[in-house]
Amino acid sequence: MRIIITGASSGLGEAMALHYAAPSQRLVLMARREDRLNDVAERCRAQGAEVETVIADVTDFGRMRRIGEELAQGDIGRIIFNAGVSVGHSGGVTPFEDFEKLFKTNFLSVHALLEPIIPKLIAQGSGELVFISSLASLLTMPTSIAYSSSKRALNAYAEGLHHQLSLHGIKVMTIMPGFIDSEMTRKNRFKMPFLLTTEAGVACIAGAIERKRIRYAFPFRFYLMIRIVSLFPQSLRDKIVNFTNFKKGT
Ligand SMILES: NC(=O)c1ccc[n+]([C@@H]2O[C@H](COP(=O)([O-])OP(=O)(O)OC[C@H]3O[C@@H](n4cnc5c(N)ncnc54)[C@H](OP(=O)(O)O)[C@@H]3O)[C@@H](O)[C@H]2O)c1
Repeated sequence: MRIIITGASSGLGEAMALHYAAPSQRLVLMARREDRLNDVAERCRAQGAEVETVIADVTDFGRMRRIGEELAQGDIGRIIFNAGVSVGHSGGVTPFEDFEKLFKTNFLSVHALLEPIIPKLIAQGSGELVFISSLASLLTMPTSIAYSSSKRALNAYAEGLHHQLSLHGIKVMTIMPGFIDSEMTRKNRFKMPFLLTTEAGVACIAGAIERKRIRYAFPFRFYLMIRIVSLFPQSLRDKIVNFTNFKKGT
């Protein structure tokens, strides 16, 4: 069965492609940067996988629908919705354009691709949908409102799909990583708590997929801290968020 990975040209997507690349495994890798994606594809082929690349911008929703229709013509084992962007962390009023970019890339693109595929998955009676969300979806900092909002929307979408599709034998998994070393986080100018290497991050994600976890957040200690803070009274939560923000220097 094919594994489809969006955002496979760098970071977690690249590392997941290499993780799953093995003899007789068919992969479909998607991203915009052709040279980077071809390089990842070549390395996956060297590990014995059969690889198809799709150079596409996920915010081109018409194109995403057409790609979804084409993918629905063949078998689908797993789709990992990983393509995503952040706009960094900054104070002040979030520009509308940030919301537009993040919601289009991190959230709306997912359904543009998936809408034509869902009937196929239902007909198959199997398939796995993996959504790469973020721990940021569980606690919104004032410096990353648009990013957290887009990932929280993704969680809500995935939760609904889980209820809808699990009845048809389809597994829907939402993965919420903390800070992982990647092109995205290398832009951050503050100390990232519990930062993991890309390889460690992918090991956690692959383990969660293997165990068919419906929701999985990691690293555990960071997740636990966020959960505990969410149980505090609002006034105490405000103090913690403001203190953390102050330490970030924003
Ligand atoms: N790193 C972290 O700490 C962290 C934590 C939690 C969640 N995440 C999530 O993990 C996912 C992967 O991020 P990463 O850390 O691996 O960052 P990354 O190295 O910047 O990778 C992002 C990937 O998404 C692709 N992408 C971005 N915009 C796209 C677009 N418009 N069309 C098609 N592809 C697009 C990029 O490919 P092209 O530029 O070639 O198109 C790239 O392959 C994201 O969803 C991110 O939100 C990351």
